[in-house]
Amino acid sequence: MSRRISLFDTTLRDGEQAPGCSMNLTDKLKVAQQLALLGVDIIEAGFAIASPGDFQSVQAIARTVKGVQIASLARALKRDIDSAWEAIRDAEQPRIHTFLATSPIHIEYKLKKTPDEVYEQAVEMVKYARNLCGDVEFSCEDASRSELPFLYRILEGVIAAGATTVNIPDTVGYAVPEEFGALITNIRNNVPNIDKAVISVHCHNDLGLAVANSLAAAKAGAGQIECTVNGLGERAGNAALEEIAMNLYTRRDYYDMTTGIDTAQIYNASRRVAKATGVRCQPNKAVVGENAFAHESGIHQHGVMANRATYEIMTPESIGLPRNRMVLGKHSGRHAFEEHLAAMGHRVDEERLNALFAKFKELADKKKTVSDRDIEALLAGVSDELPAAWKLDRFVINSGSSITATSTVRLIHSDGRLKEMVAIGDGPIDASLNAVDRIIDADLIGRAPELEDFALSTVTEGTDAQGEARIRIGWNGRSYNGIGVSTDIVEAGIQAYLNAINAMEYESGTIHE
Ligand code: KIV
Ligand code: ZN
Repeated sequence: MSRRISLFDTTLRDGEQAPGCSMNLTDKLKVAQQLALLGVDIIEAGFAIASPGDFQSVQAIARTVKGVQIASLARALKRDIDSAWEAIRDAEQPRIHTFLATSPIHIEYKLKKTPDEVYEQAVEMVKYARNLCGDVEFSCEDASRSELPFLYRILEGVIAAGATTVNIPDTVGYAVPEEFGALITNIRNNVPNIDKAVISVHCHNDLGLAVANSLAAAKAGAGQIECTVNGLGERAGNAALEEIAMNLYTRRDYYDMTTGIDTAQIYNASRRVAKATGVRCQPNKAVVGENAFAHESGIHQHGVMANRATYEIMTPESIGLPRNRMVLGKHSGRHAFEEHLAAMGHRVDEERLNALFAKFKELADKKKTVSDRDIEALLAGVSDELPAAWKLDRFVINSGSSITATSTVRLIHSDGRLKEMVAIGDGPIDASLNAVDRIIDADLIGRAPELEDFALSTVTEGTDAQGEARIRIGWNGRSYNGIGVSTDIVEAGIQAYLNAINAMEYESGTIHE
């Protein structure tokens, strides 16, 4: 019988620690709901003590996301553990995840302690956490560079103190698969009470081996793998959840393990995280990259047409990826559109359906063919959660090779006011965003947000392709993301900017549901 392996998702904690990947509360809740749908076993919702915002989001996830364990990270300190417990105590299945470094370099230079002091602190803090919560995970930070006798000793101590899971992180991505698998085997053979706890692994990708190391550890007997959607995380990231899940599924003949993952939710999870963080996957990213199922060369196309298994070891449908087929046109009705969305796995409420259908009609008027990818892009661009303070009413640009670009933008506020401004800029998009700045600057927030990132890409091929704009803005020390999609890239840029501004105004309490 196959062994069931747990997936511990840390997208909202380690993933969010990656530069430029911060998420707002609303986005974190949406990601957590999607992770629950995906079927992960544990969601590490954040690091409660890190900031009031982190605490708030861990608590909100613990209170609302059901059917999955919710963990908060805590250093091995009473105040961290208290804060983690306070944030997660209302969860259906709370878990405190506490950690302390165990490698000589961390002990000497970072902690400035002796190994005995580290041992005492770890054991004491696990006992303390266990008095609060029945489920406690202890991580030996930098385990892969720790001395084995000390690692065995501390693992035995924390398990005796009540740790239910012991995590072996390859914190700096230094391990090699054979070696890391052997480490797990050694731990199983040398820690006398190891059968009282689940062995977990947490691998970073500095040398591109995070997934391989995690799988080698699972093969050697680890019962939990920690991972992130799209492989986000500190530096080069963590082991990618979608790669772990699809390896275990596609090569179940070799691994003989199962997970709780509904693989058909993988694509949605990847898009959801990309939308929340504003960070897209590289096109050739395994499993969820844009090109992961694209067959470009004639020989491959020919083979795939004769029999898909010639070049496809997994199907796009198995991860919930819509095939890029032409499906709907400008004569398609609202009902057909709704049914099509449902077939693509998206059930939307009445209000969002109306907004999407209006966008679809606009698009069908401009584009000859509307593909599933186009519809996915519309879904990403039409806000599904936030009441919008500002909507684009109209814009006019004046631009060319020998004149300064000018843009006139008119926005409509949720209270009914129309505001119009003109601005110049370095090209039509810059001019349009400057015009938006002049409207909101003068209006609500007193100063314009800072543009942290802006990226444009096309959704499908051809000169009539939709453009997708992604924007990240910073305001009051926080970042907000927005996506805009249109066949007109200036419009896509304005929409993306407004979506980010609306998220910012919603979070800062300027508008209320
Ligand atoms: O990489 C690491 O060691 C961590 C621990 C806190 C689990 O993220
Ligand atoms: Zn980590």
